[in-house]
Amino acid sequence: MSPFETLNSQSDVSPPLHRVVLAPEKRLHIDYLINPTQPSEVGPDSGQDAVVGLSRSPKSLPPHYFYDDRGSQLFEQICELPEYYLTRTETRILQTYAQEIAGLTGPCELVELGSGSATKTRILLDACAVLGYPLRYLPIDVSGGILESSAYQLLNDYPTLQVHGLVSTYELGLQQLGPSPLDTRMICFLGSTLGNLTPEECHLFFSQIRAALQPGEYFLLGVDLQKPKALLEAAYNDSQGVTAAFNLNMLSHLNWRFRGNFDLEQFEHVAFYNEQQHQIEIYLRSLRSQTVTLQSLDLTVTFAAGETILSEISRKFDLTAISQELATLDLVPVHTWTDPQNWFGLVLCQFGTNSRWQSY
Ligand code: AVI
Repeated sequence: MSPFETLNSQSDVSPPLHRVVLAPEKRLHIDYLINPTQPSEVGPDSGQDAVVGLSRSPKSLPPHYFYDDRGSQLFEQICELPEYYLTRTETRILQTYAQEIAGLTGPCELVELGSGSATKTRILLDACAVLGYPLRYLPIDVSGGILESSAYQLLNDYPTLQVHGLVSTYELGLQQLGPSPLDTRMICFLGSTLGNLTPEECHLFFSQIRAALQPGEYFLLGVDLQKPKALLEAAYNDSQGVTAAFNLNMLSHLNWRFRGNFDLEQFEHVAFYNEQQHQIEIYLRSLRSQTVTLQSLDLTVTFAAGETILSEISRKFDLTAISQELATLDLVPVHTWTDPQNWFGLVLCQFGTNSRWQSY
């Protein structure tokens, strides 16, 4: 399509619509707030969080170390697994209710945290397009490569879409949001990534969301809900071993990033549901006593046979309880949606509205 093609040829009935369509690159603006090729001495890419986690007892590692290129590919594969119901279920809820959501917010800039391949974004953009809204999308992702490629695909598929991407951590990206170019804005945090935060981190994250929103603007949150242990444990111990490979890949990520010598054969994947805490816990368990060195972090770590590293928690929520928590932070739930089995929930909140939220 030429950059200035006129979009008025599709129907004889509607009035001519002389809308100028710009080439994808003219509708794309990306700000790099972090530089992934130059790790800083402090902050999430410095490795200090790995030093802290591996030096304490019990050992742990922050889940962001899952996501190098291979880790991101493995996560995409996890989302397709028959046992991993989360992505499929959330997608179906969005497909069913996206127009209702767009109807509630009106024309809004879509801000997406951890946009990844932006598959679910398309469902929301389609709903906005059907309602004749202007399409504005602001993805925030630490991976510049993924953000750029998914932005170009979207720009090709939506000829009037404008994309302003931020290659950034969520925290920094949220701090840098200027005023919305449209009447309102909706920050989307989908996929139950919230579940990978501790309750304290979660609280801090909600306050960052609040600080990024203007009164009346929206927050759309997708959360995995509590359900029987067997279903949950199957989702994190899939029969093809993709989740195990994803977990072990964290060690190879540390090896290449920090000149480490983890032997992946000497660790195994363990995942189970902690029913008291309502969370899946994922560990890497050392199969023997061993010593590992991460040269560029100047770190030597010893493991006893059977000793574990906590690599992730994945909390499972109660929709009413999380809605109440959001309401106490002035992120007032406007509506919630679930699937017929109540496996996954979406909450649409509005910041600072005077309406008092009540349980529904
Ligand atoms: C990204 N996050 C929501 C996933 C989850 O289900 O907690 C990460 C994951 N870990 C293992 N499988 C998927």
